[in-house]
Amino acid sequence: MKRNSVYDCTIIELDKHHSARKGNITVVENNYTVPFEVKRTYYLYDVPGGESRGGHAHKELSQLIVAASGSFIVTLDDGNIKRTFLLNRPNQGLYIVPGIWRTLDDFSSGAVCMVLASEGYSENDYIRDYEDFKNYIKR
Ligand code: TYD
Repeated sequence: MKRNSVYDCTIIELDKHHSARKGNITVVENNYTVPFEVKRTYYLYDVPGGESRGGHAHKELSQLIVAASGSFIVTLDDGNIKRTFLLNRPNQGLYIVPGIWRTLDDFSSGAVCMVLASEGYSENDYIRDYEDFKNYIKR
């Protein structure tokens, strides 16, 4: 089975419909803007300064992570290479493929981290221990 790499993850520029009078709107469409069908959306907010989120990998789940408000840093790790992304624009999304360890840090005050996910919630899809992750990607 092909092992996914952090280079399979990328920033997707989302379209922004701008009106000088009414402000902006950004749209995400299944299988068009994102290369999967969105089955679940959730968002993180009121993350206290200095706290981290994530700290896990997924076996099957793909995600698009958007800083709907404020900013935070996402670190991706495929067990070999790490890449760090600053998300701070609501019209940019970070596409994350399965099999990547991710950590979210440095949340600004008022940050909202919106996550569009390709599957419903399943604890069985999580790898929450880094040693388990290293073993999983070696298989
Ligand atoms: P978790 O994914 O570990 O959060 P994060 O990666 O942001 O640190 O989820 C935190 C808790 O929320 C965990 O107890 C499971 C629960 N949860 C759900 O019940 N449904 C969901 O869709 C998600 C994402 C989490």
